[in-house]
Amino acid sequence: MERTFIMVKPDGVQRGLVGEVIQRLECKGFTLVGLKQLTVSRELAESHYAVHKERPFFKSLVEFITSGPVVASVWEGDGVVASARKLIGATNPLTAEPGTIRGDFGVSIGRNLIHGSDAIETAQSEVALWFEDGELSSWKPSITPWIYE
Ligand code: TYD
Repeated sequence: MERTFIMVKPDGVQRGLVGEVIQRLECKGFTLVGLKQLTVSRELAESHYAVHKERPFFKSLVEFITSGPVVASVWEGDGVVASARKLIGATNPLTAEPGTIRGDFGVSIGRNLIHGSDAIETAQSEVALWFEDGELSSWKPSITPWIYE
């Protein structure tokens, strides 16, 4: 089953949006298989955003992600990687569509509330970076036949 990595960033945690994010993913029909709150080390933040290390915003991004607790999660479901990206919305909250998480709650690109893996391969490496196998539990909700044909 396809999995993705979703993180509520420090701004989302401070603004009390953890429940909102979890609710949107649950209501869509995806299954939560891992969840934890943690304060991110510089090392983990730099690994997670390694692809951006030459970008001008890298330093402030790492500082922001390490500035307070985040809520990291793993979700399972058909097409969950691309679908979660749609639920999250465009990187810049000002251009993100209303109805998306960033479109509904954000204003600034550097305070865009949430991270979601951008591809299946990225999701696999992000899940492995953030979670130990023992922290994840694959399970099948009893409502599955009401979500999948
Ligand atoms: P990116 O991977 O391009 O976006 P997304 O989170 O939508 O996959 O960028 C990673 C994060 O870097 C982004 O969520 C916010 C931050 N960022 C900036 O602060 N300024 C920028 O100009 C860009 C492109 C990203």
